[in-house]
Amino acid sequence: MRPTAAPYPLARFRRLRRTPALRALVQETTLSAGDLIWPIFVRDGADLAEPVPSMPGVERRSVDRCAAAAREAADLGIPVIALFPYTDPALKTPDCAEAWNPDNLVNRATRAIKDAVPEVAVMLDVALDPYNADGHDGLVREGVVLNDETLDALERQTLAQAAAGADILGPSDMMDGRIRRMRDSLEREGHKDTAIMAYSAKYASAFYGPFRDAVGASGALKGDKKTYQMNPANTDEALRLVERDLAEGADMVMVKPGMPYLDICRRVKDAFGAPTFAYQVSGEYAMIQAAAQNGWLDGEGAMMESLGAFKRAGCDGILTYFAPQAARLLAEA
Ligand code: PBG
Repeated sequence: MRPTAAPYPLARFRRLRRTPALRALVQETTLSAGDLIWPIFVRDGADLAEPVPSMPGVERRSVDRCAAAAREAADLGIPVIALFPYTDPALKTPDCAEAWNPDNLVNRATRAIKDAVPEVAVMLDVALDPYNADGHDGLVREGVVLNDETLDALERQTLAQAAAGADILGPSDMMDGRIRRMRDSLEREGHKDTAIMAYSAKYASAFYGPFRDAVGASGALKGDKKTYQMNPANTDEALRLVERDLAEGADMVMVKPGMPYLDICRRVKDAFGAPTFAYQVSGEYAMIQAAAQNGWLDGEGAMMESLGAFKRAGCDGILTYFAPQAARLLAEA
């Protein structure tokens, strides 16, 4: 269907922009707190919140403070918290065994949140980078990131996270075959209701820089992630990856980063109609915050406009470090 318009002055588009009431009436998309997933960084210790320098307004929190954040999320109407660990470098090994330690930071934080605020869903990343001496998402041998051997490690990580009570698992590793392996092992081990949000179209992006600082992976990472994350120049490949992941049992799919890839969001939603999410990544957050701190743009305005853009592009929800700030603004409005 082509939108049609009568010629001027029969059609005057400004008629419906004249007042807030008329603008509200014809608004095509809306953002609500229920669309937001709040990523939180977990660190060791008690009653601690330490700022992440490259992400103003974001903190690494101790496990008890994660439970407090979940309370805040529930009060703000944010349905999901995603946890990422700041792992002690001494625990990073080539076999990444800390990834499936039932008592690692994210598994402990998951249990703490599910005990304190069970109505908030917990999402955990499935990938090895926070635990890997090489900083890569997969196991590395002689400089090569191994696919099939990594699947065994991801399966262990998956089962430990499901056992800890995670509601949603987010494989962000981009190994081939991981969704099928995860789904099969979850079914086999009695975790049939653990959902998978696949990072299906994840690009090898320069916008992840501040995140790697936040989880302490920047120093560790050797080389880049171009042999497993997507080439930013590609779009048909994203559709094939989404199709593949849905066929392997993904419940939801994700595009990442967000704002530079809104064209991908739209194509994915139009092609599959599956629950589709975008990750507004650390670099996107840092850019808006840094410009706002310098007085170069209106931070709240840019935040809300950027989040609304994801809804317009067809996304059902957004992972964003702005989640609590945006939910607070939405509650005031
Ligand atoms: C790693 C992972 C990354 C992010 C989420 N999971 C970084 C990477 O792929 O290097 C990035 C999130 C962000 O930048 O906010 N598996």
